[in-house]
Amino acid sequence: MKTYQIAALAGDGIGPEVMREAIQVLRATGEKCGFQLHITEAPVGWAGIDFARKALPDITLEICRKSDSILFGSVGLPDRDPTIPKEERPERAALLRLRKEFGLFANLRPVSLPKVLAHACPLARERQGDGIDILVVRELTGGMYFGQPKKTEDLGGGNLRAIDTMIYTTPEIERIAHVAFRAARLRRKKLTSIDKANVLENGILWREVVARVGKQYSDVALEHLFVDNAAMQLILKPTQFDVMLCENMFGDILSDEAAALGGSLGMLPSASLGVTNGGRTFGFYEPAGGTAPDIAGKNLANPIAQILSGALMLRHSFGLNEASAAIEGAVQRVIETGLRTGDIFNAAEAGARKVGTREMGAAIAAAI
Ligand code: IPM
Ligand code: MG
Repeated sequence: MKTYQIAALAGDGIGPEVMREAIQVLRATGEKCGFQLHITEAPVGWAGIDFARKALPDITLEICRKSDSILFGSVGLPDRDPTIPKEERPERAALLRLRKEFGLFANLRPVSLPKVLAHACPLARERQGDGIDILVVRELTGGMYFGQPKKTEDLGGGNLRAIDTMIYTTPEIERIAHVAFRAARLRRKKLTSIDKANVLENGILWREVVARVGKQYSDVALEHLFVDNAAMQLILKPTQFDVMLCENMFGDILSDEAAALGGSLGMLPSASLGVTNGGRTFGFYEPAGGTAPDIAGKNLANPIAQILSGALMLRHSFGLNEASAAIEGAVQRVIETGLRTGDIFNAAEAGARKVGTREMGAAIAAAI
């Protein structure tokens, strides 16, 4: 039987409770589809700091290195931030570090609004068209997140100067553009590239390089939008988008906006992929939402983003397309039967039943 090694890093806040449900669903899928998962859990984020005084403990990094892929929960508890220096906080010391360490330059965030969740979308029905189905392809290891210098200087007299640097090179833009064009080919063959070419040097280079790469994909319709306009178009007419290609920070912002259109951030999975080597792609899979400390430990969190992240792992890292589709199908059926966590519940919806994290996870595992 095929066996895969997975590092499961649940992290903070709602991480552990949604991770538990995702693992349950993955195990049910393995039994059904005939593969085995060796899952090793390891602490990260504040859980790592409490365990080994490091957001990314050495043992956790070691386990990740020995694994075929990483299933990640979420990290960060803003209330505790003031207790340690900013470079040691989980977002930078664990999440960004892992992205860089494993060269995870391509972040895929698929957003779709299932018909039955039309009520959870903040837009009027006539703007939802036949449904929203967008793939945000976000560059994940460049731009303002990582550019140097990155520091805060003391100017004296109580004044500080904060510096972040936005850097992109031609090869960095080319490789993420190829990912986006290939994804568009498998979808509706439309690619919208987002930049700020009217103001930023980075935007000019981005647009030039994407246009040049696009010549190799003449079957894909390419358009360029400025990021501010793209944010507006997402609200005005989200159905015009198929694949949206963004640099790191624009993708961070627009993917949350797109997620809201898909009903809830609790429904948005993501895959972060490195280069493909001998047919294998090391990947990092995480829900795009955060730790949601306000609802943590209360059995209120929606586990679907974490569960769907598991489905993306099966597809992108292990090539288990059927097993992946089995999870996506189970999620869809359970939603169709009316089960709703609080974030997607609407009392006015006929047949809707409000459930907790555990009940939602168990129902999806049973539906595999
Ligand atoms: C995301 C998150 C992270 C990011 C944070 C937690 C550092 O918002 O994955 O979208 O900005 O990339
Ligand atoms: Mg974000």
